[in-house]
Amino acid sequence: PKTHQHEFVVQATPVKRLCKNHNTITVNGQYPGPTLEVNNGDTLIVKVTNKARYNVTIHWHGVRQIRTGWADGPEFVTQCPIRPGGSYTYRFTIQGQEGTLWWHAHSSWLRATVYGALIIRPKEGDSYPFTKPNRETPIVLGEWWDANPIAVVREATRTGAAPNVSDAYTINGQPGDLYNCSSKDTFLVPINSGETNLLRVINAALNQELFFTVANHKFTVVGADASYTKPFTTSVIMLGPGQTTDVLINGDQPPARYYMAARAYASAPNAPFDNTTTTAILEYKSAPCAAKNCAASKPVMPPLPAFNDTATVTAFSKSLRSPRKVEVPTEIDENLFFTVGLGLNKCPQHLKARRCQGPNGTRFTASMNNVSFVLPSNFSLLQAYQQGIPGVFTADFPANPPLQFDYTGNVSRSLWQPVPGTRGYKLKYGSRVQVVLQDTSIFTPENHPIHLHGYDFYIIAEGFGNFNPKKDTSKFNLVDPPMRNTVAVPVNGWAVIRFVADNPGVWLMHCHLDVHITWGLAMVFLVDNGVGELQSIQLPPADLPLC
Ligand code: C2O
Repeated sequence: PKTHQHEFVVQATPVKRLCKNHNTITVNGQYPGPTLEVNNGDTLIVKVTNKARYNVTIHWHGVRQIRTGWADGPEFVTQCPIRPGGSYTYRFTIQGQEGTLWWHAHSSWLRATVYGALIIRPKEGDSYPFTKPNRETPIVLGEWWDANPIAVVREATRTGAAPNVSDAYTINGQPGDLYNCSSKDTFLVPINSGETNLLRVINAALNQELFFTVANHKFTVVGADASYTKPFTTSVIMLGPGQTTDVLINGDQPPARYYMAARAYASAPNAPFDNTTTTAILEYKSAPCAAKNCAASKPVMPPLPAFNDTATVTAFSKSLRSPRKVEVPTEIDENLFFTVGLGLNKCPQHLKARRCQGPNGTRFTASMNNVSFVLPSNFSLLQAYQQGIPGVFTADFPANPPLQFDYTGNVSRSLWQPVPGTRGYKLKYGSRVQVVLQDTSIFTPENHPIHLHGYDFYIIAEGFGNFNPKKDTSKFNLVDPPMRNTVAVPVNGWAVIRFVADNPGVWLMHCHLDVHITWGLAMVFLVDNGVGELQSIQLPPADLPLC
């Protein structure tokens, strides 16, 4: 195994998009940031220096961080932020994961522009469980605001209203052909006739689930969230923010130019969203195309699913399977039921009405089991947990919602007024955990991409309506369920995940729509050390930023 050393300098950089110049927060002046390429088993040492005027942390999304929770990165959860002028070195080893992950800032909305791909190839000497591709191309989907994203979230927090939607989607930082002033920078994906290109697709958008497709070609899906999948073909994939999907594409069409396109899967009825489409161009490099001068021709545009096409999303997620029989825990020590959803809080007396610009003079909020998660500010949760510092959090996050009702029905919003809190749920080392994640329709039903730090989990079932423990357990797939780190909980429905709590630390679980984490759709698991050094978290690094 190798050790890879990198330096990340977080800094404001001039970036021109959609006809305007911006001062954008980047890593090393690059937007998107640098692609890291490693092999399974390698170690990464990344020194992050903060030359921006905001606090920052970097999260290695999907990296299990076994015993290295101090390197996970969510601010005030596993570390205090790196202050302007400060630095921190993240050290961790990739253990047993192969495929595509990514890294991103985990502080306010900085990840809008501070992100990049993390490519994990097979262990040295091993090969892919599919035909070796001739080429590999990361496809990082993003979301662009003309305004400073930090100002957008600050305004939403001040008013209690929903934040402005984005102005464009991007592929590898470029909005592409269909947007003003963007044509000449449209991202080009080369392919040769008869060759195979492995596309490593990442949804790095802040607040939007996205469909991704390509004209006249089919994808063969071979991986998701750095776990291999049983290959299947499809013409469209859907990724929630945080998710990755590896697909093979064959150069089996007449040499020409074809659009790849991404646009919203907008599952919440009547909620505003950015309805624009980002494109890249799949361009045949082969001689016949050059002869016909196809580089000058207009690319073929693919059809895209309707914005609310939940049937396509369901068909796609049900096709994802592990390649073979896997070891899913069959017995359960912790049987948890968490609601995930939005809410509306009454405007507090002391705020003038203009400060509560949510629907009918309310403020938006979000919760799991009616607890709206609040980050601490004086210690990180991991530090408080390890050192027994009192008063930072409580370990009484509820195993079940305080009130059960018809989660898909039209119920009174007053039933459900989320209560702010910094509450965790304790897990014994090695306990076998099942979590039912149930969407609520308070304010609106919506598909929520729920991400768990520190673990991969099996998605053993998903469905619509209220989860029914009597009926729905018969649908559990304990044979070949997919393994992921982010599950798209269906709109008006539920998903069930299982994992073994074998990684000690404090691990955030949250909706990866950043606006929802801003509103409190998060909780933490507090996982005990096991017996002996190999089941315990390592000591904190000497340069760990303190608050
Ligand atoms: Cu990709 Cu908590 O994040």
